[in-house]
Amino acid sequence: MKLFTPITFRNVELKNRIVMSPMCMYSSEDGMPNDFHFVHYGSRAQGGAGLIILEATGVEPRGRITNKCLGIWNDEQAAALKKIVDFVHQHSESKIGIQLAHAGRKGSASAETGRQVSIEEGWETIAPSPIPFHPSERIPHVLSVQEIKTLVEDFRKAARRAVDAGFDVLEIHAAHGYLIHQFLSPLSNTRTDEYGGSFENRARFLMEIVNAVNSEITENQALFVRISGTEYAENGWEISDSVELSKALKANNVDLVDVSSGGNINGVTIPLRPGYQVPLADDVKNSAGIETGAVGLITTAGQAEEILEKGQGDLIFLAREILRNPYFAVQASWESGDDCFYPHQYLRAKPTK
Ligand SMILES: Cc1cc2nc3c(=O)[nH]c(=O)nc-3n(C[C@H](O)[C@H](O)[C@H](O)COP(=O)(O)O)c2cc1C
Repeated sequence: MKLFTPITFRNVELKNRIVMSPMCMYSSEDGMPNDFHFVHYGSRAQGGAGLIILEATGVEPRGRITNKCLGIWNDEQAAALKKIVDFVHQHSESKIGIQLAHAGRKGSASAETGRQVSIEEGWETIAPSPIPFHPSERIPHVLSVQEIKTLVEDFRKAARRAVDAGFDVLEIHAAHGYLIHQFLSPLSNTRTDEYGGSFENRARFLMEIVNAVNSEITENQALFVRISGTEYAENGWEISDSVELSKALKANNVDLVDVSSGGNINGVTIPLRPGYQVPLADDVKNSAGIETGAVGLITTAGQAEEILEKGQGDLIFLAREILRNPYFAVQASWESGDDCFYPHQYLRAKPTK
């Protein structure tokens, strides 16, 4: 199957096309990874995924969605992340990435209810413009140009720490209505300075982050960007914007665009069905000429293979399915007769072909 063929980004070779999609686990204290994360990510490496991408990880404390989210704003966090990275490298053939994130106006939420908590329990949220995600939420603090520059620097420092910790892939989270997406969309960004207005101005924050991250990485790390292909709202961010943005990302040395959708506008209808976001990955891949990741309600190897065969995407991101089954890659390879990494400790349990 094409699903079990390798693919290379810069010098990073993934053994197969199966990616563990970033998923918040809301299990950290002070942004620190712990034994849960070690076992959780280590299991997916033993399960044969070509690439594991760690959950949205805050580049500064306010960049977390909740106070249980992971962080990479200090050396202690980076050292603890390195333990996971080293295990994956030493005991599997998987590569490992991290999603660098800032929640912006969607931060300061409760890990239990998802609702915004008070400033005392959480923090003052930030955004490009004084527009909350939900009318019941506080008006976010509007970022000054100087504060925007500091945030770009936070992403650069986080990238440095990620490289030092040994990550193979860095993914910038520019989707799902978080801070970078808030800048991209004309519905959440009404600024009149160089970070608002025209498409180019709204994309400036992301492009500055891309360049800052690229200044810290080498040919031994790949750079992915996750975007929301559309936000399903009139006069909002649309697939044509995503195509234009992806051309610019390609020109700025981004290796792959991971195409998700939605998250920025409250109350929109999302047409959920198997593979519902695949056409967006297809459009970006074939109109912008950049490799893409397909994600969203992909649950079988057959479905994944069809996406690859049709040339709609280059990597298959699995989220809920790989939570249900950490051994998705290993099992799918047994069924198709393809080769896949399998822990040597478990060889006595391997079915014969
Ligand atoms: C528990 C959970 C946490 C998630 N956290 C993140 C995240 O940290 N970053 C992100 O970009 N997407 C996140 N997502 C979205 C997934 O990466 C994925 O795009 C989405 O679940 C659709 O894929 P699926 O149908 O295979 O689950 C999360 C999804 C789930 C289920």
